[in-house]
Amino acid sequence: MDSPEEKNIDYETGTVSAVDLHDSVRRENPLDKGGQGRIGMAAVVICCFILIIGGGQIFQTFVANGSGFSSNIYLTKDYQPMPRPSLGGDAAEKEQVAWIEDWMSDGKKVYNNCIACHQASGLGIPGQFPPLVGSEWVDGGTKRLGAIMLHGINGPLKVGGQTYNQLMPPWNNLSDEKLAQVVTYVRRSFGSLPEGEDGVVTTEMMKAARDEFGAHTGPYTEAELLAIPADANLSGAKVDLETGDPVGGG
Ligand code: HEC
Repeated sequence: MDSPEEKNIDYETGTVSAVDLHDSVRRENPLDKGGQGRIGMAAVVICCFILIIGGGQIFQTFVANGSGFSSNIYLTKDYQPMPRPSLGGDAAEKEQVAWIEDWMSDGKKVYNNCIACHQASGLGIPGQFPPLVGSEWVDGGTKRLGAIMLHGINGPLKVGGQTYNQLMPPWNNLSDEKLAQVVTYVRRSFGSLPEGEDGVVTTEMMKAARDEFGAHTGPYTEAELLAIPADANLSGAKVDLETGDPVGGG
């Protein structure tokens, strides 16, 4: 019995010939040295190349330009951002401003005519120009004020217990609207109005004043002004402070 299997085993000593045992394996399946599983030289060269170029790029952006990785490295010198789209917010807000706000801010502009004498504070200059703050002429009815604005006053005039004796110039060269605005501004800013009185004088009311007092010539005297009832108001409809539209009743 000398089959190929048996010849590798020495049954008497119990040893196996390892060389003989592997003969068949070596014959059938030879190892291919240096092929599969090895990195070719070309691959190593390519990798080095990539690392060198990449490193150079990082050095450029991060170190040489000093700009790190900030986004502005992508911006050109003439870059202009797109304008933000308008959502119509301005127009919407403008509509929300109450009529009285506009009326008052216009009145404040007209009041620039008065600042030299009555001062921005409305406190006047003691002994020379009377205050509008705490003045019975401002706090009273609007008829007297309408008359004063159109023709001015030739002193002496008593205001808050003090007598002033100068000349308050006429303002009838200003439009009814401007006069209405400035009187509104003076009354609402400096006056101490009775409860429930909004202090507003409208263009219509100033027009009524011009109709009533327009024919007067020269500045008023104190006696003439006192002849107008202290609480008399110019005729004209009251207005809604939000919209400026006339409200019923008048
Ligand atoms: C050149 C100075 C001068 C200017 C400008 C002037 N006023 Fe007068 N105003 C006077 C004087 C002075 C009196 C006091 C009467 C007098 O002495 O003739 C007076 C009196 C008044 C009074 C009544 C008294 C009081 O203090 O309440 C009112 C109201 C008034 N002025 C409002 C105005 C308004 C509003 C303007 C601007 C549109 C104006 N004045 C501009 C000088 C001036």
